[in-house]
Parts: sequence; structure tokens; C-alpha cells
Amino acid sequence: MRPINSKIDTGSAQFKTNRAAYEETITTLGERQQWAIDGGPHRQRSIERHLARGKEMARDRIDLITDIDTAFLELSTLSGYGQYDDEVPGGGIVTGIGIVHGVPYVFVANDATVKGGSLVPIAIKKHVRAQQIAEENGLGVIYLVDSGGAFLPLQDEIFPDKDHFGGSFYRQARLSAQGLPQLSVVLGGCTAGGAYVPALSDEAIMVEGIGRIFLGGPPIVKAALGEIIDPDDLGGAELHTRVSGVSDYMADTEREAYGRLREICLTTNQRSVDEHQPWADWVEPESPAHDPSELYGIVSADHRIPFDATEIIARMVDGSKFAPFKPEWGESIVCGFARVWGHLVGIVANNGIIFSESALKATHFIELCEQRRIPLLFLQNTSGYMVGRDSEAGGIAKNGAKMVAAVANATVPRYTVLIGGSYGAGNYGMCGRGFNPRFLFAWPNSRIATMAADTAETVLVDIRLGGLKGAETTDEEIAAMRAEVRDQYETQSDPYYATSRLWDDGLIDPVHTRDALGLCLALAARQDEPAPGPGLVYRM
Ligand code: COA
Repeated sequence: MRPINSKIDTGSAQFKTNRAAYEETITTLGERQQWAIDGGPHRQRSIERHLARGKEMARDRIDLITDIDTAFLELSTLSGYGQYDDEVPGGGIVTGIGIVHGVPYVFVANDATVKGGSLVPIAIKKHVRAQQIAEENGLGVIYLVDSGGAFLPLQDEIFPDKDHFGGSFYRQARLSAQGLPQLSVVLGGCTAGGAYVPALSDEAIMVEGIGRIFLGGPPIVKAALGEIIDPDDLGGAELHTRVSGVSDYMADTEREAYGRLREICLTTNQRSVDEHQPWADWVEPESPAHDPSELYGIVSADHRIPFDATEIIARMVDGSKFAPFKPEWGESIVCGFARVWGHLVGIVANNGIIFSESALKATHFIELCEQRRIPLLFLQNTSGYMVGRDSEAGGIAKNGAKMVAAVANATVPRYTVLIGGSYGAGNYGMCGRGFNPRFLFAWPNSRIATMAADTAETVLVDIRLGGLKGAETTDEEIAAMRAEVRDQYETQSDPYYATSRLWDDGLIDPVHTRDALGLCLALAARQDEPAPGPGLVYRM
């Protein structure tokens, strides 16, 4: 691997303009993330009530459990953003990866200050996604349960289908069977379906006075049986720990419960975060030689001006060292080997439109990584595959399909970051969400859609005019159609629209991307070697 020779002039007007624009983008990201954490005025009352009950906030709970001086990788902080009348910040659930006694765990923590911790559709999606991450990365799950269960007004969107509420219990049972610890601390009501989170756990702790588990709460018991009963007598910590045995331990306070949970974690017999297995190539890490904060000045403020993927790589990888593959062929895709926090990775990064040659080069490179058992990192910034007569005649459809097939069948760990545009089938060939990368993060400047707004405006208006079969249409009507399509595409390709719907695992500051990827790669390196894939390398 050779050091990348950067051509960026940090004193140029363009660099300064880009940097100023990106700093504003980062300020907006920070403000929106803070809103998801603090909530709006409506939530303040719930927070005050929660704290007055002597309860800790969801993120503070995680902080009390995880090892001091370790970072928590929070996922999808902005899920639900702009949905549900903005009354469900973060989707009402906090998920992420934290370290306990050196061992990484997935955390799923209900936020009881948002709709009583009940689960709206995006919360269920986030809960199930966290469990999927646990399964793929071989991680135990710690559930901090403080939830009103299913959000009843939207029951049809959360209850019956695959990967709805039932899917979360299905996954919990199967994760346990795979030897991945399922541990619960009950910190609030667990009613009806919610009772199964602790009941399906390998070990459960209840906190006296706040934790309650029942299949039917006091109002249901009164209606069904005419019994009037106090919630603690029906399903409190004492009843479940000393009488029913639904809970294994009880604690007088939250802090005592977290101490007990950490003791349990000492007995789970899981690999620590730095126990790299022999198949995973790892050396002592080095910092990038080029300052990662220069990424702000490299990413173009104007979406129409391209930026060089190699300059991005230079600010993400160890020592800014890179071994490019086929650098003089198919130049609109940059492929090559580098290290991120010491882990060897194969990088596939776009430099704009994907042509036949670039698709074939990427296919060849993906097969090499698969054969050599090297994880793949995709950096997406493309308007898609090349269209037009020459491109079609050159077989772009089959060449693109080769790349898509190679990505779909690679068994090595794959990671994706949207660093710019993610349009059309370029999203697929570059390991978009549909191709199940282990983690997918997006930068706050990214855009994702079938096509860019200006292309959609032309295509859709032409289709509509074709449908009118020559009927008279005024210039004003055509302009209104264009404006409508553009507005729709601009709204829906916005990264906040995407992250709100969990099309990614979170928006991430470019400067923090290397650290997040380092943890993700470490999770895979502690696992056994992935099942062998096709292993063949075809010269394309
Ligand atoms: N569906 C929809 N909304 C729910 C809800 C649910 N399952 N559980 C709680 N909420 C909402 C409340 O309507 C209230 O909304 P608001 O802030 O807009 O007024 C908010 O969450 C807080 O609820 P509240 O009852 O005031 O809080 P609490 O802390 O005193 O009690 C619970 C919390 C969860 C113990 C209690 O709300 C409860 O028992 N909920 C119903 C549980 C249930 O029967 N679930 C069945 C799931 S299948």
C-alpha cells in the first residue's frame, strides 16, 4: 500500500466554500439529533414526570451500564423524524452498540418519555433491525424495558405482519438459541405482548416500585374478572421474583440493577471486542496522514460538481495508504485495499456514473475480496449506470447485473456509506439496503432516490404528457407539473426523509465515519470465518 498523494488545495476558494457549507450541514445535523434526544415542548412534561418518579433517561441508563471511557454507537437517532406529527423523537426507542466488560452488546432501550415507550411502526422496525444486527454480528442483546407495548391506535401497522411485534419475539427466541445472551432489566410496565420481552430473556432483573409485568393490566382485570388490584400486587418485582419466578433477580434501585446486570455479563462467556480471529487480517492501526476534517472542504457544496473518491479514502484509512486495483481501467469506480483501524478492507468507491468497464472492474474486485476473505466497504456517490445507445450496445445491462450478482452473493462482511448520491440501480450494485450490508450509514449531504429530481422532472412530465395524447396543455400547467415532481423528488431524496424511515442505520458526520467503521469491522473480526462463498475469480 502506498500513501495517497492528495491534490486538494485547502487554501482554494472552492475548498473554503465547501467547508463553510458543510459546517452548516453538520450544525443542522447536531440540532436535529439534539431535538431527538431532548424532545419538543410536549415531551418536556413527560420528561419531568419521568425524572420525578426517580427514573433515569434511556441514554443515561445505557451510560450507567457500559464500561467507562468506551463509546456507545447509537443507531438511527433520527428515526421517525418528521413523522407522527413530530411527537415521536427517535421513534421512542434507543438502539446501538455498547461495551460491557470489554464485550460488545446490542442495546434496545425503550424511551418511556415518548408515548409511554409504546412502539409505533418505526419503533418496531428499529427494534427488529437491532436484533438483525445482533444476529449478523454475533452479539448478545440487553433490553431496557420501559414500554406500554404496541402503540394501540396503529395496531394494524405493528401487530400482524412479518417483522412486526411478533417478529421481534421470534428473533429474540432464536437469538437465544444461537447462544447470544438475551438479558432484560424491567424498568416500567411490560403489558400484554410487552411481557414477552423479559419472559423470553435468558435472565431478567426487575426494579422494585417501577418494574411491572402482566399479560393484562389492572383495567383489563377489572373489566374481565371484576377484581380490583394494585399494579404491584398484580405484576410487581416482588411477586415475579419471589412468587411467579418470571423474574430472576430484583433490585431496589436502577443503579443496583445495572450492577447486577454487569455481574451477569461477566458470566456470558462471549468474545471481547478485540479478540480478532485468525481469518481476519489485522495489524496495529495508524491515524490517517491527511486530516479527516478536510472531508468538509472536499465534498462539493454544489451537488452537480463531482469530488474525487480517492481524496475521501485518503481521510478515512490508516496512514492514508491505499493499494488501488486496476487504477488505469474503469476509472469511474475506484477499487483497492486499505486498512481501517488496522482491519484490512477492500474498498469500492464511485467517481460518478458507472460505465460497463467500471462495473466489470468492481465485479472482478468483489470476487477477489470474496476469494481472499476480505471485508468490503462501499462508498456510494453515483447517479447510476450509464444510459444511451452506446452504453446499451456495450451491454451495460448485463455488466451491471454481474456487479449486482457479485455483491448479492459475497459472503464476506459488507459495509456501505452513502457519501453523495445514491441513485437508481447504482444503489443496488453498490450494496444498498436491499443487499443487506451489515451496517449502512449515510452522510448528511447524501441523496437517495430512483433518479435525481431534475431527471425525474423531465421523465415524469413526458410520461404524463404522453398519456394526455396531444390534449391541449398550457405552459403554466406543464410548469406546475414539473414543480410538483421536483418537489416530491427533492423531499423524498433528502437524507432526513431516508433516515426517518430507517433506510439506513443513521446519519453520520464524515469525520466520525472511520471510528464507526472501525467498531463495525472489529465486531466481524471477533466472529468465526464467514461461510465460504463462490470463491471464483473471473477476469471481466
Ligand atoms: N398505545 C398508545 N399510546 C400509549 C400506550 C399504548 N400502548 N401506552 C401509553 N401510551 C401513551 C399515553 O396515551 C400517553 O400519551 P400522551 O403523552 O400523548 O398523553 C403516554 O403514552 C403516557 O402514558 P401514561 O399512561 O400517561 O404514562 P404512565 O407512565 O403513567 O404509564 C404505561 C405508562 C405504559 C404503564 C401505561 O400508559 C399503560 O399501561 N399503557 C397501556 C399498556 C397496554 O395495555 N398495552 C397493550 C399492548 S399490546
